Amino acid sequence: MKILGIETSCDETGAAVIETDEKKPRVRLLSNVFPSSMALHAKTGGIIPEIAAREQVKYIIPVVQSALDNARITSPGEQLDAIAVTYGPGLIGSLLVGVETAKTLSLVWGIPIIPVNHLFGHIYANWIEGDAKTDIAFPALALVISGGHTDLVLLKNHGDTLWLGGTRDDAAGEALDKIGRLLGLPYPGGPSIEEQAKIGNPKRYHFPRPLIHERAFDFSFSGLKTAVLHEVKKNVHLTGQDVADIARATQDAIIDVLVVKTMRAAQTYHVSSIILAGGVASNQEIREKFNYEIEHKKLPITFFVPEKYLCTDNAAMIATAAFYNKSFRSRDTVAANPELYFD
Ligand code: KG4
Ligand code: ZN
Repeated sequence: MKILGIETSCDETGAAVIETDEKKPRVRLLSNVFPSSMALHAKTGGIIPEIAAREQVKYIIPVVQSALDNARITSPGEQLDAIAVTYGPGLIGSLLVGVETAKTLSLVWGIPIIPVNHLFGHIYANWIEGDAKTDIAFPALALVISGGHTDLVLLKNHGDTLWLGGTRDDAAGEALDKIGRLLGLPYPGGPSIEEQAKIGNPKRYHFPRPLIHERAFDFSFSGLKTAVLHEVKKNVHLTGQDVADIARATQDAIIDVLVVKTMRAAQTYHVSSIILAGGVASNQEIREKFNYEIEHKKLPITFFVPEKYLCTDNAAMIATAAFYNKSFRSRDTVAANPELYFD
């Protein structure tokens, strides 16, 4: 089976073709095109929805064409089985570019559409062929850490999920982006803070770990941002070392909360696998901390995380989620839903 994926929920414009083999546990990538919009948004210090959508209108057709060319698809109507498209959550203008393109192509090529929840897309990046040697055993616990979301989701099987908790205010990535801005670091804050943290002194600052001892699986990161703001205001002229030390303390606080809450949920629900998903999962320190917690302590749990380039927004993960949850829908009923969440 071959599926074309389209992803335009936020600032990226992605298209990918995957191939599935019923005997193999993972899907194979035939192409994955996502021209980076990072430089554009770095200029304005963040994403301006109107500008993002206008760029996506320009890019979507060439990006889809490249994805088809790279996958050697010359007759899409005959060679493709479906078009998977992100229908939410995200920015309405951006979502509409992907959804309307998918509907038009579905009509022209005569193949069905599979609408995909972007958040499940991130989770399914773990099912793309990569370094992992074993299949992902259920029940699995997914920690979704992106720019807009921080959620713990129990996967009992494909299509059978239970949302355990999420952030009450800022998402982990959002907190990193806002703190990055406070520290005068380039957008996006996540990778900039990771870079600075490498040379930061871990002992100089200690920021709060909100809700870490609460039994519920909720998160809160806005207090962390306030604590950093407080420090920044105390030191009007921050030196390079001050910035690195604050970055280190910020990253440590966020990772501590994520690890403690995820491990508690894993024990409560006796899961066989823990999987990370979303842009923040490309952070090397987070990957290593989870690996240490699970592997070093010899827990009967297998840890999975997508390759770094598949953690941030891409269309391959959307096509993969569509394959495992084949909810084909008639073209007319597919509509963008910016407020979509886990159901
Ligand atoms: O999943 P994603 O690409 O988009 C959303 O769906 O939101 O995640 C983007 C988020 C941004 O907040 C960005 O700062 C963060 O992922 N991020 C990182 C790293 N790379 C991207 N956070 C920490 N460390 C990184 N290396
Ligand atoms: Zn995303």
